[in-house]
Amino acid sequence: MDKLLISGGGPLAGEIRVSGSKNAALPILAATLLSSEPVMVRNLPHLHDITTMIALLRSMGTELIVDENLGVEINGSTTTETTAPYELVKTMRASILVLGPLLAHFGHARVSFPGGCAIGSRPVDQHLRGLEAMGAIIDVDAGYITARAPEGGLRGAHVLFDMVTVGGTENVMMAAALAKGRTVLENAAREPEIVDLANCLIAMGAKISGHGSATITIDGVERLHGCTYHVMADRIEAGTYLVAAAATRGSIRLRDIGPDTLEAVLVKLVEAGAKIDSGDDWISLDMEGRRPKAVNIKTMPYPGFPTDMQAQFTAMNAVADGVSHVTETIFENRLIQTHEMNRMGAKISIEGNTAMITGTERLKAAPVMASDLRASASLVIAGLVADGDTLVDRIYHIDRGYECIEEKFHALGATIRRVAN
Ligand code: EPZ
Repeated sequence: MDKLLISGGGPLAGEIRVSGSKNAALPILAATLLSSEPVMVRNLPHLHDITTMIALLRSMGTELIVDENLGVEINGSTTTETTAPYELVKTMRASILVLGPLLAHFGHARVSFPGGCAIGSRPVDQHLRGLEAMGAIIDVDAGYITARAPEGGLRGAHVLFDMVTVGGTENVMMAAALAKGRTVLENAAREPEIVDLANCLIAMGAKISGHGSATITIDGVERLHGCTYHVMADRIEAGTYLVAAAATRGSIRLRDIGPDTLEAVLVKLVEAGAKIDSGDDWISLDMEGRRPKAVNIKTMPYPGFPTDMQAQFTAMNAVADGVSHVTETIFENRLIQTHEMNRMGAKISIEGNTAMITGTERLKAAPVMASDLRASASLVIAGLVADGDTLVDRIYHIDRGYECIEEKFHALGATIRRVAN
């Protein structure tokens, strides 16, 4: 298993390009199953999760062509198999996002029940409840969700989610695009990736309004046609590099992303003492050589502070000036990276879903182990501000969500390289 070797060093400096968003690309790839014609998806990040989703579509017989810069043309109408097998779903929970499209376009689907992961149990009850409200008949047996549309196909429904769920909103919104009649989603997730998915569906001919708000209205249509869609930039990748620059007292510039999807993160970075500047498609951060100030974080659904940025800020707070608390409200076990940071000399204690952090000037390098995607990114940040060489194990987590992470950090002046076991 590969590892990343990070030598603690000085401030990050330089400019990098932000890749396409993993969490927008995955539902958009699933949405191509709804179309009766080929859909070209561009700006896909070169990530393991993307290749897994492409493998899943291929396993269902869906014809697709990958071009030289990972643009993918997918013809959903060529799908011959509506099963998402355990072997693929167990490696990527987001496979559940093919359920709604398969049900809506082909009338049946059999998707392995996604298990939990390191950060939590990750149930999908809201996905299933929304589809059942549209008339779907759903059973769960032998680890598989089997779903059938009612006679005449799915019907529009009024769905009030028990809690804000990104995947649940995406799955039900996709199914509603081809349902008969109107579907209204209440307490819907407002994440920018939902807006990107809705914009792609609209480009395919779907009738959707309210996306980005807590109430989304979808009027089903007979069929969806092809389009070419450019996936939005990855705001979490961008935020990760900005926090790394803040933790190392650096100065960096990001290309191909604007500030509007990162407001909660940028507010916290300014609070930490960063000078932020931005334009339509760039963001710069400059610490002017200063140590970051500790900032308090509480994760919330968008537009609140994103849970996917919590681990990275925990790493910055570990070396910031002052005491801070970080409260994780979305997932039940997403403070696990703090234990590995304490092995690097961080001063973090946990009370319930809150980490209490007393910043120290530097950390000390140690061999550490990644547990999930964003926790592994936070350990890389910790390695950048530790004296010595930090070896991060199980970095397959990182390869699921960060395109060319060592090249990008290297371009910013970090000493980081991949070492085989
Ligand atoms: C998406 O996961 C993202 N993944 C996650 O990013 C992100 O952390 C999360 O949204 C929250 O923003 C993708 O988009 C592929 P949820 P998702 O449904 O859809 C509970 C990353 O690092 N819940 O919004 O699975 C759930 O347990 C990943 O890129 C139910 O109880 O998240 C959680 O506590 C990690 N029942 C909360 O809701 C359900 O049916 C939010 O989950 C669905 C969710």
